[in-house]
Amino acid sequence: MEVGNIYDCVVDRLNHQGKGICVVDSRVVFVSDCLPGECVKIKIDHVSKKFVSGKVIERLNDSSSRVGVKCPYYSSCGGCDIMHMSYSFQHDFKFNKVKDIIKKFVHEDIKINEVSCDEQFYYRNKATFHVKEGIGFYKDKTYDLINIDKCMICSNEINNVLNILKKMDLSNIESVVVRSSYFDKSVMVIFSVVGGVDENYLVDSLKDNVCSIYIKKDKYKLIYGNEYIIDMIGDKKFVISPDSFFQVNTPMAYKLYSKVKEYAGNLDNSNVLDLYCGTGTIGLFVGGKAIVGVEINESAIHDANINKELNGIDAKFYCGDSGKVLKKLDKNFDVVIVDPPRSGLSELSINEVISVGAKRVVYVSCDPVTLARDLNIFKNYYDIKEISLFDLFPNTHHVESVCLLVKK
Ligand SMILES: C[S@@+](CC[C@H](N)C(=O)[O-])C[C@H]1O[C@@H](n2cnc3c(N)ncnc32)[C@H](O)[C@@H]1O
Repeated sequence: MEVGNIYDCVVDRLNHQGKGICVVDSRVVFVSDCLPGECVKIKIDHVSKKFVSGKVIERLNDSSSRVGVKCPYYSSCGGCDIMHMSYSFQHDFKFNKVKDIIKKFVHEDIKINEVSCDEQFYYRNKATFHVKEGIGFYKDKTYDLINIDKCMICSNEINNVLNILKKMDLSNIESVVVRSSYFDKSVMVIFSVVGGVDENYLVDSLKDNVCSIYIKKDKYKLIYGNEYIIDMIGDKKFVISPDSFFQVNTPMAYKLYSKVKEYAGNLDNSNVLDLYCGTGTIGLFVGGKAIVGVEINESAIHDANINKELNGIDAKFYCGDSGKVLKKLDKNFDVVIVDPPRSGLSELSINEVISVGAKRVVYVSCDPVTLARDLNIFKNYYDIKEISLFDLFPNTHHVESVCLLVKK
């Protein structure tokens, strides 16, 4: 099989990234933008020992789960990858993917709840636009720029600012991050610069439409407006600074955090540990008699300390690696909440969490594969009660899981 070869095939099923799986000459070929049961003519575009992929050059029939895609950049943009699926099919895909992964790696019959969802479009509160001979996103797996006028998953506020940026002289600017608040619609713009820029020009061009402008070279420098923008999740306020993690889909973050609170149980008399706490959002949202948060990013910890004051909640935040910090802490916690990055819990973190011996552990995960790997260890000490799924990233293959573990 060689790059450029053309084959007729039928899409058998989907892989976990939402790509169609076709079998050609006994080899598996991954094909974008196709659905099970569709007959397609494909052109091979990559052949290696690891994998073969192809592109659809002709589709002979449409699956009933296919929808017309309104985004003009979908076929080349590296952002969305399952926009051609109906929204209900996207949820079936995400549910089945988590179910398969858990079954394959955890070998237990675990209750998994249907995917909870909200708006399919214009939901993202953060976008990173690249700048070259225009402004936009990179083509899938390349540094080739696609000039874009509008992104169908970014908030209206981000798209309004993009419109202004498109008319500006962006010399010596490599990329622009735009963050928006769902609560008050305020916007922060961060220019990553590679040489000298006219700060007055950047401020004058944007100041009527945004609340905060930074330039970033080695570090962040505020050149206009407020240090932070503020968003709300439920009745709690959170500051967002240029470098801190904040969930990109605010209304869905509320649904997810509410499930964490439900799984954590009554916390009135509980000591709560929020590991990988970011700006302290989950700990401050769920409450507790005493709240402790651990996070590696200094700027997030700075924000977490502002957030506790803003909400009048007493909490203690530690900056450092979760496993190393936890090793030194007095392990008097009734509930532990963990929300690690894609890589999941480190070996040290998981051992330290287990040694806490909390009655409940609530595991928030953005990657079901590392969740399954970690549950395989937890299951020796904890009963895996159930998993709930949340669609924070519609039109992409990603899904968030929240899992309740109760001490055996
Ligand atoms: C998925 S985010 C969750 C943040 C927060 N719980 C929220 O909902 O906004 C993961 C967080 O883990 C932090 N992190 C990454 N590696 C870490 C480590 N080794 N120790 C502690 N925190 C870490 C990241 O900086 C990030 O803020």
